[in-house]
Parts: sequence; C-alpha cells; structure tokens
Amino acid sequence: MVNYKDLGLVNTREMFAKAIDGGYAIPAFNFNNMEQLQAIIKACAETKSPVILQVSSGARKYANQTLLRYMAEGAVEYAKELGWEHPQICLHLDHGDTFELCKSCVDFGFSSVMIDGSSLPYEENVALTKKVVEYAHQYDVTVEAELGVLAGVEDDVVAEESHYTKPEEVIDFATRTGCDSLAISIGTSHGAYKFKPEQCTRDPKTGKLVPPPLAFDVLEEVEKKLPGFPIVLHGSSSVPQEYVDIINSHGGNLPDAVGIPEEQLRKAAKSAVCKINIDSDSRLAFTAAVRKVFAEKPGEFDPRKYCGPARDEMTKLYKHKIIEVLGSDGKAE
Ligand code: G3H
Ligand code: 13P
Ligand code: ZN
Repeated sequence: MVNYKDLGLVNTREMFAKAIDGGYAIPAFNFNNMEQLQAIIKACAETKSPVILQVSSGARKYANQTLLRYMAEGAVEYAKELGWEHPQICLHLDHGDTFELCKSCVDFGFSSVMIDGSSLPYEENVALTKKVVEYAHQYDVTVEAELGVLAGVEDDVVAEESHYTKPEEVIDFATRTGCDSLAISIGTSHGAYKFKPEQCTRDPKTGKLVPPPLAFDVLEEVEKKLPGFPIVLHGSSSVPQEYVDIINSHGGNLPDAVGIPEEQLRKAAKSAVCKINIDSDSRLAFTAAVRKVFAEKPGEFDPRKYCGPARDEMTKLYKHKIIEVLGSDGKAE
C-alpha cells in the first residue's frame, strides 16, 4: 500500500473548492509518454497551475500503469526542479470501469479515481460508485463519477439528446454515492470528430464546420440542484483547426474533424465545471509537429528531433489552455 501523500501528490478536494470559488477550472490532461508528461509539467510550472494527470485504460495498456505511476512521482520532483515551489499535482485514473481497478490505483498511490458506471443501469451505477467511494475515502482519495452518456459520433442526434445527464437524478446520485465530483453529459464527446457534418453549420467565409452549442440549460439545472458541487466535463478538446490543417497538408487525413469551441469551454470554466478533460488536442499538437518534421526533413531519424518539437508544441498548447481557456494560471504558487 502506497499513500499518494508520501509521493507529494494531492487529491482534488481543495483544488475543486478553490476552482468553484474562483470561477476557473482545473486542467485534466491525459498522458501516455514522457514527452507529454514533460510538456504538461513544464506548462503548469511556468504558469503555476494546479493540474490533474490522467491515466486512461488505453494509457495503461500502452505504457504500463506501474511505469506511469512512477513517472507521476518523478513529475513532482521535476516540477520542483523547474522552480515550482508547491506543485499541486493530482494523479487520477480516467474512466475506471471496475471496483478492482479503482482499488488497485488507490493502493498504488493514485490520489483520485474515476469510476465510470455511466453505461450501467442507474441503480447499478449507484451501487458501484458507492462501493468505490467507501474504499477510496478510507485513504482520502477522491472519486469522480459519471451520470449520462457522452455521445459518440456514430450516435444520431435523437440518441445524443436522450443521453444527456438528467438533472432530476443528480441529488439522489450524489447523496447516495458520496462521490466528490460528477461528470455530466451536455453534448461533448471524446475524440477529434465530436459532431457529424450534418449536425453543424458551415461558416460562409471559411467553409469550416461550426458545431451546435453545448446544453448549458442542462448544466444550469444541475448547478441549481447541487449548488457548489464540482462538475466535470469530459470530451473537451477544441480540435484546433491550425493543427488539423498542418496534419492534412503534410500527408495526413482528418476530414471534417471538429471539437468544442473555446468560448464555450471558457463559459463552462466560470460555472460549477471545475475539471475539464483534454486529450485529443495534445495528440493533434504532437502529430502536427511530427508530420511537419517528417515532411520538411525526410533525412531525420533521431526521435529526439521530432519528439522534441512535438513536446514544444504540446507545451504551447497546454499553456494556452491554462491561460486563455481555463483560467487556472497563478492558482498554485
Ligand atoms: O477517455 C478518453 C481519453 O481520451 C483516453 O483515451 O483510452 O485512447 O487513452 P485512450
Ligand atoms: P477529448 O477526446 O475531447 O480530448 O476528451 C478527453 C477525455 O475526456 C478524457 O477522459
Ligand atoms: Zn473522458
């Protein structure tokens, strides 16, 4: 049993309380490799932003959970080396799907876990979440739960509407499970294709897709039912067109990729939404930088010469998110 406090990590409780009071959101960035982690920590150290490092099941398969956990431990020391005196770094399991997985992360030094029972019938979601909360809270590990299903791009519009979080369920769910934060579904989804072209309009000037707005009415209803309760938004990448354009003009093929406009995320960050999950944008930044090097310097074969520029691009992206979208800069001196 390793307690996260011995690793210099923090849970989300204080981070979220401050974020709600201050009208900003904490960045939750996924990481799968060293370059991503270096970029996240550098961006957060330079902006003094608290951060949630997320490990998904995909990351666990790709990089190994043990290695990722030790990397997070190293990240705390790296942050201090960069001059960040009191780093506020949370290590979080993203989309945990079983009690056993959540328990193994708690036992291994994670400071926060998500139990995602959103695809289960309501009562099963309540029971599973409650079980994880009861275990995690013994070690002061915070728990994120989910109600409502994030739309997949293959869903049709009607199905998406019916998967929104039902505000009338949130009081019962939060009370009975004891969860510390709640991920809700208001129209975001994972990946770089968040909306089908037929769900969007086209900007007449640029010809680019303009997605439909998020369901802020659902968010407001949830806030009214649970005042001051931390709300989480998954699937919050903006899919920056400049990266999509670089990728597509350097041999890639991402037709009609579209994300959540930043002004909508800015609005959400000022509300009870205090954790915003971003993964795809970092993948796009990495890929755009690597494709550029490959196209411009075909003789290059030292991975540091293309992973280095990718890391710089991700650092730029993370800083932009922190300062221009979430407003979490300067909140962790
Ligand atoms: O939840 C989605 C995240 O972007 C993680 O995705 O399972 O491919 O690592 P992944
Ligand atoms: P994006 O795919 O929009 O980056 O969402 C990531 C996420 O929600 C991780 O849990
Ligand atoms: Zn997610």
